[in-house]
Amino acid sequence: MLSPVLTLSTVFSRFNLLREPSFPRFVRTLRTHLRQHQRQKLIWSPLISPVNSPAVGLSNYSFHSLDAETRISGTGDDLVVLGIETSCDDTAAAVVRGNGEILSQVVSSQADLLARYGGVAPKMAEEAHSQVIDQVVEQALGKANLTEMDLSAVAVTIGPGLSLCLRVGVRKARKIAGKFNLSMVGVHHMEAHALVARLIERDLQFPFLALLISGGHNLLVLALDLGQYIQLGTTIDDAIGEAYDKTARWLGLDMRRGGGPALEELAQEGDAESIKFSIPMKQHKDCNFSYAGLKTQVRLAIESKKVKAEIPISSASCEDRSSRADIAASFQRVAVLHLEERCDRAIEWALKIQPSIKYLVVSGGVASNKYVRTRLNQIVKKKGLQLVCPPPSLCTDNGVMVAWTGIEHFRLGRFDPPPPANEPDDSVFDLRPRWPLGEEYAEGRSEARSLRRARIHPSLTSIIQASLQQQS
Ligand code: KG4
Ligand code: ZN
Repeated sequence: MLSPVLTLSTVFSRFNLLREPSFPRFVRTLRTHLRQHQRQKLIWSPLISPVNSPAVGLSNYSFHSLDAETRISGTGDDLVVLGIETSCDDTAAAVVRGNGEILSQVVSSQADLLARYGGVAPKMAEEAHSQVIDQVVEQALGKANLTEMDLSAVAVTIGPGLSLCLRVGVRKARKIAGKFNLSMVGVHHMEAHALVARLIERDLQFPFLALLISGGHNLLVLALDLGQYIQLGTTIDDAIGEAYDKTARWLGLDMRRGGGPALEELAQEGDAESIKFSIPMKQHKDCNFSYAGLKTQVRLAIESKKVKAEIPISSASCEDRSSRADIAASFQRVAVLHLEERCDRAIEWALKIQPSIKYLVVSGGVASNKYVRTRLNQIVKKKGLQLVCPPPSLCTDNGVMVAWTGIEHFRLGRFDPPPPANEPDDSVFDLRPRWPLGEEYAEGRSEARSLRRARIHPSLTSIIQASLQQQS
């Protein structure tokens, strides 16, 4: 059972009734912003599916009744939001102002752990996050020359991702928010990847199309409005980042800077036409993705070329290095051709649904790849649109995108009240390890998509296996 206080605060927050003296700072901030902004109706379509679990706080945050709706449309320049991100293998925090000014950005990467153990082991990742989270947040505030007292709100990623990892960030965010009486915004990691593009490109208005490419996700979404997304395509198995990482590992590359960047670099030396990998899902005229088959093709090519991947690339013979580079370049060419083909079709679909679309946003870790950016730019230009690709430091996981998404939602009044101070560490938080972004586009459903097996982030498999073992 939820405690009455928590239940009430959630209801208050949803109906924007937080006028209690127990939330003075929160109310002050809210009033300031309400005064600034014009009143108009908000048509809200849920980004978040209802959660009935008795989790603490970060509810389906704060949507107001249509009758007494307040849509905050001003810039809210004086907002200052701390963003915290721990959904996967980077511990990140940033402080961003309502006008988009990035006051600080700190990322602590677990690339070393990844290189050593070959993937994200949830328990180890959780520990790594726990070790650095205080320092990362402290540095973010320090670099911004601010203290918690200067913040308007705290935004934190609540999903999708690894629950053990998400929990570290959420616990930290709630500690700060509880102690300093700050409101909170629970952020969708993939929405944050998309929305950070609006921080760097101020002309980027809804609706727009977004291709989100990371280690665990491949998504094509039509962003109609804040919190309103239509999913045109997703991956039926692996995401492109996972394919980059596995290929890099199999080719014996130095994973300490991440598999993707290492592979991109080696590919520049290779002949991209030397191995004719087949483009995935050519026969499916939809916008979904599949990278599992390409991974298998790569593995077979590595075997047939007798690449000595156990020898690190730095010690490989010239001939062996050249074979590896050819595989890397051929893989990259086809992996990106698959993106190109899907984007081409998604633009057509999106323009049919929303003819006013002008932009394709490409974001997520893989979007920091220069070859990806160049090739997609050509597609976008051919279709008469404009590409918006955040700088690499904002494509890979970061706290800025979380803070900015927090700002976007906060401005619309979508936030939760401050959590109780001194909340016990073992409280049950609202975490959303699997959390779809938007509604599936019914007409885009393909046979391949309905055949897809449950999409599970590779690193979640070990959690599931562990819990099955515990149960048996
Ligand atoms: O968005 P992100 O930082 O984390 C997730 O949400 O997964 O994406 C990480 C993924 C990894 O698979 C990484 O190898 C890939 O992005 N990546 C790249 C590049 N930089 C990062 N892939 C290809 N080329 C790059 N330059
Ligand atoms: Zn990400």
